[in-house]
Amino acid sequence: FREFISLIKEHSGLIQRAMQGQLAVPDFAGLVGDVHRMYREILPVRSGAVADYIPQLARVNPEQFAISLCTVDGQRTSVGDDDVPFCVQSVSKTVSYCLALEEHGVDLTHGHVGREPSGQSFNELTLNRQGRPHNPMINAGAIMCCSLIRPELAPADRFDHVARTWQRLAGGRRTGFNNAVYLSERQTADRNFALGYSMRENRAFPNGTNLQETLEFYFQCCSVELDARMLSVVAGTLAAGGVCPLTGDRVFSEETVQHCLSLMATCGMYDFSGEFAFTVGLPAKSGVSGAMMIVIPQLMGICVWSPRLDELGNSVRGIEFCRKLVAEYQVHPH
Ligand code: DON
Repeated sequence: FREFISLIKEHSGLIQRAMQGQLAVPDFAGLVGDVHRMYREILPVRSGAVADYIPQLARVNPEQFAISLCTVDGQRTSVGDDDVPFCVQSVSKTVSYCLALEEHGVDLTHGHVGREPSGQSFNELTLNRQGRPHNPMINAGAIMCCSLIRPELAPADRFDHVARTWQRLAGGRRTGFNNAVYLSERQTADRNFALGYSMRENRAFPNGTNLQETLEFYFQCCSVELDARMLSVVAGTLAAGGVCPLTGDRVFSEETVQHCLSLMATCGMYDFSGEFAFTVGLPAKSGVSGAMMIVIPQLMGICVWSPRLDELGNSVRGIEFCRKLVAEYQVHPH
């Protein structure tokens, strides 16, 4: 009975909105049916390959597939391997950027990192004309954002700060950390070190930045682990302008989220971002673990996770889901 009461308490806002006919997605049962059908239609797709440049990622079972969604008022559904943890990889770039913005504001943050698509792959050895990374959604830009997050803290406290933020974004559930992926990535990170040195040579970092520590912090942020259900709540928090739909906790300001969604929409899908914006039109961010976070502002957040990637590094099934979603629903902004 106590569990029943706490369940009612947890969902009281949702129940109230349902009774007043004010749910973000009134026919949620219809949506659930469609998501399950799309899952079954996409499941047989077996093209693409798991990322193998980080040895631990190459060992993940490529068949896994999950779709989870969370509306801005906390209705949720999920199908497939939705409780299998995966590491966020580049999806972490969204949160690192938001944290940098919250701490330093737009002008200071963008004094260190640009906001234009790079038109190149995520780890390309290139900076913009000012000697800054093109945007926060590629490796160089995310390394730069990491350098801006609480640099005065000891490494452990710095990581705690990020992990706590993920936890709040995910509705209070504790996120994990994949130490093997972290160690494996650190061991094979010549490219990211090269990006770091190139930015240091261009005096792009804030004064006093410790490059080694910053890179290790960046690898740690990529190795944060959660499951599809949790990542859909994170996406739902962004869809709701920074307030977690499950807890009502304001994690980021509306302005921060607005900037993050703009850059997800223009730069979030590697050098497929232009095509994705043209055909799907939604802010999204992918990672080499096969994770994808999609935001439908003011409506819902979605996570698709499936490890096989196309040649540009995006989850094949993730892209397929987005294609189906916009074909069936009018979510592409006009
Ligand atoms: O730095 C790397 O290569 C990985 N930790 C992240 C790669 C990733 O997901 C690509 N992102 N844009």
